[in-house]
Amino acid sequence: MIPQAILVAPSMLAADFGRLAEETRRVEAAGADWIHLDVMDGHFVPNLTIGPQAVAALRPVTRLPLDVHLMIESPDRYLPAFIEAGADRVTVHAEACPDLKKVVGQIRRLGAKVGVALRPQTGIEVLKPVLDQIDLALLMTVNPGFGGQAFMPEVLPKIESLRKLTDRHIQVDGGINYETARSTHSAGADVMVAGTYIFRSADPKQAIQSLKGLAG
Ligand code: DX5
Ligand code: ZN
Repeated sequence: MIPQAILVAPSMLAADFGRLAEETRRVEAAGADWIHLDVMDGHFVPNLTIGPQAVAALRPVTRLPLDVHLMIESPDRYLPAFIEAGADRVTVHAEACPDLKKVVGQIRRLGAKVGVALRPQTGIEVLKPVLDQIDLALLMTVNPGFGGQAFMPEVLPKIESLRKLTDRHIQVDGGINYETARSTHSAGADVMVAGTYIFRSADPKQAIQSLKGLAG
């Protein structure tokens, strides 16, 4: 089953950090569906990015859902802070959650939409026990930690297998451009996270619309 609509979530990691509010408004006006915010702690991944304070600062800037991707150890410790800051959707990494079911329940109780992310090497079996309790599965198409990396085509069969099991959102993140969005959409993904492709493009609006247009 291939979902019809494509949602585009620009990754603000590739935006100008000195003008995050303006960049957020710009992609909203260009037709973005969600604002993707990458949180990194220097432990789960080697890089450091933003915390709840930056999420709170962007909350009044846009009406779009804030899609917060937590690449951090012990995400359960920080869920209340991110959700109080205005995260509408929170995605945790299965690899960082010894008790994934518990964390999924916690996000739900705090009132946000629930996402679970997998590194490229992690098999989809870990999702099976929580599949009917989540809103979104994020299949990483690069090793998490940095923007601007090359798409890993070996994730495509994983997308196909997962799509056979669920009608929930399947989000892809890492190296997404027109070509890789097309192949991931054919495999069953419906939410495209893209940083470099959108923000380094001469025309971010055209870049966003090109991805949305893949749905036909
Ligand atoms: C990587 C992040 C991504 C990243 C994508 O760990 O989760 O959201 O910003 O950037 P591009 O689209 O440049 O690969
Ligand atoms: Zn991300």
